[in-house]
Amino acid sequence: MIINRLTQPLVGRLAALLLLTGALHSLACAAPSTVWLDELAIEKIYQYPGKPQRNKSLDGNPMSIGGVKFERGLGTRSESVLYIRLNGGSTRFSASVGIDDEMIKSKVASAEFFVIGDGKRLWESGVMRAGDKPKAFSVDLTGLKSLVLQVGWGGNYRFQDNANWADAKFEVVGEKPTAGEAKLAKVEPYILTPKAPETPRINGTSVYGVRPGSPVLFAIPATGKRPMSFAAKNLPAGLSVDEKTGHITGKIAAKGDYTVTLVAKNSLGTNEKKFRFVCGDQIALTPPMGWNSWTVYGHAAWQKDIEQAAHLMVSTGLINHGWSYINLDDSWQNQRSAQDPYWAKNKDRFLDPEKQAPLRKADGEIQPNTRFPDMKAMVDTIHSLGLKAGLYSSPGPYACGNTAGSYKHEKQDAETYARWGFDYLKYDYCFYTEVKQEKLADGKIAYPNWDFIETDRPEGMLYPYRLMGEHLRAQNRDIYYSLCQYGRAYPWKWGASVHGNSWRTTIDIMDTWESMTKIGFYYHDETAPYQKPGQWNDPDTLVIGQVGGWERKIRPTRMAPDEQYTQVSLWSLFSAPLLIGLDMTKLDDFTYSLISNDEVIAINQDPLGIQATCTLTAGDLRVYPKPMEDGSLAVGFFNMYTGELKQDFAEFAKLGLKGKYRVRDVWRQQDIATIDAGNGKVALTIPGHGVRLYRLYPIK
Ligand code: GLA
Repeated sequence: MIINRLTQPLVGRLAALLLLTGALHSLACAAPSTVWLDELAIEKIYQYPGKPQRNKSLDGNPMSIGGVKFERGLGTRSESVLYIRLNGGSTRFSASVGIDDEMIKSKVASAEFFVIGDGKRLWESGVMRAGDKPKAFSVDLTGLKSLVLQVGWGGNYRFQDNANWADAKFEVVGEKPTAGEAKLAKVEPYILTPKAPETPRINGTSVYGVRPGSPVLFAIPATGKRPMSFAAKNLPAGLSVDEKTGHITGKIAAKGDYTVTLVAKNSLGTNEKKFRFVCGDQIALTPPMGWNSWTVYGHAAWQKDIEQAAHLMVSTGLINHGWSYINLDDSWQNQRSAQDPYWAKNKDRFLDPEKQAPLRKADGEIQPNTRFPDMKAMVDTIHSLGLKAGLYSSPGPYACGNTAGSYKHEKQDAETYARWGFDYLKYDYCFYTEVKQEKLADGKIAYPNWDFIETDRPEGMLYPYRLMGEHLRAQNRDIYYSLCQYGRAYPWKWGASVHGNSWRTTIDIMDTWESMTKIGFYYHDETAPYQKPGQWNDPDTLVIGQVGGWERKIRPTRMAPDEQYTQVSLWSLFSAPLLIGLDMTKLDDFTYSLISNDEVIAINQDPLGIQATCTLTAGDLRVYPKPMEDGSLAVGFFNMYTGELKQDFAEFAKLGLKGKYRVRDVWRQQDIATIDAGNGKVALTIPGHGVRLYRLYPIK
């Protein structure tokens, strides 16, 4: 065609039309495509135990929820967490969820489904039970970087109920979603904690709770050059301090709040610190800090290991940062007989031929196995070092290692533990499920069945914990009471009523990012409102350093250095019990630096005991603020992604701040900025899976 003036407008119009159809065409291309969840690498799910199933239930049957059949989806179980990377490419996720009908015979099966986008809950199912109709949902994903599909176990006593994400699919307009995370760049361990000064400095808690008449044992934790001498001014009647060791011992008769001044002195100077002994009903007014044998020696600890750990707690100097408990976990007792038919059915369990002896003596007293020749002597050694001693048992006939439990011996065991001198009892749950309810002569019920699922009254769960709690309280010493029933029936709601000082919030932690984040970032926040001084939510041990487990095969933690910084920072912001479970004989400099930073520990030991929760999120960033007793605010900025995060943070007003603040980098122990909460910003550069831990001090 010859283009002249006449035809030009037509050409223009044609071109416009072509452009329009082109645009329409590309719009049509941009129409979302469907990507099914089962097309992703669902094997990357974090679930225990068993393998996730594609388009089938966990047990390999066609998916069925409340009688409704589904052809596609992910068959998993409570608990599980699947991380999905979106990078802004998806606009919508929809699914129908519920317990698979293969659980229908179980009256107690339950689960709860959560859909989390960039750290915010986009949808939650509420507790679902076997037989419930499927719940369908559809959530907007526009602009989101990540999605987490989490199945919680709905507070029942099982955490292995088959649960489906059925008909689950994405609407995708850009990059396709992928399951799992990109690889984390390899980073060599690097130390941020500056060396403690040679001048004396008193660290750790500033408050000690004790009941009237109970023995006090507190070693003033002070760093600095040795020799050092100690004093304590205005000690209440009944207490005294050893000038050389700094151990404060004795008893306080009368209830009261006693403010004293602790003094540490060496050739370079003197340091004083205000300190309170609060004599009343509550102990453990700040979270316990200690060592636990479980994640390193598993079922194969010896008395000499425990004593060695205690000596190392002192000789490495950890005691000077406030570490004070040495806790012996399971398998100090004898195991049920090798002839017990149980072993034929449970060949995978840990049978220890060296522990085959009667569980109890003729008079019913519990009997340590041959690896623990003298429990009292062991505890005396621990005490002589200025440390406290912890022990483990279970309300069942057996504890988790098939070792003697306290069932029907609760009073006698509490008395024995007190006589040996223990200061701490971790009380597990294993095999209590085998206990049968009894009707007593007076008509009362002993060991009631757990009726939580039917009635929402967890009486049967409370009973064994209250029983032991009351016997511990009747002893002439304070025994910290640590409930370990994996969060069943929400112990944070009732743990205090059975005299608990802490309660585990989930099943056992493993030394992996997936396990640690599952507990720390996805399951812990709901427990926060219930925590207060003396009553702590326990997300389990710090899985750092050289760890082992079960048969003491010791190896380095599988968490990367930045992941370890993350765990220590997060647990400090939680005011969680700090329990290391590492090989004290192989304590490397990096691990030592993680647990000897006094400014980090101060966040954990703050007397207000507030548990930080995630109050702000932005993309891969999670922000955890924790108000401190002195009016400052500790804030953890966590990068949930494997790649580096670079972001300006300016939302200080949203953290409740007003006016000017000095910003201190807590790990480096350096002031880094002065900001105005109204318009100031901090440039964050956070390594993959890493953290920046700051403390903001108001400037008057
Ligand atoms: C359970 C607990 C662990 C540990 C073992 C010991 O699994 O949760 O912390 O005490 O028992 O057998």
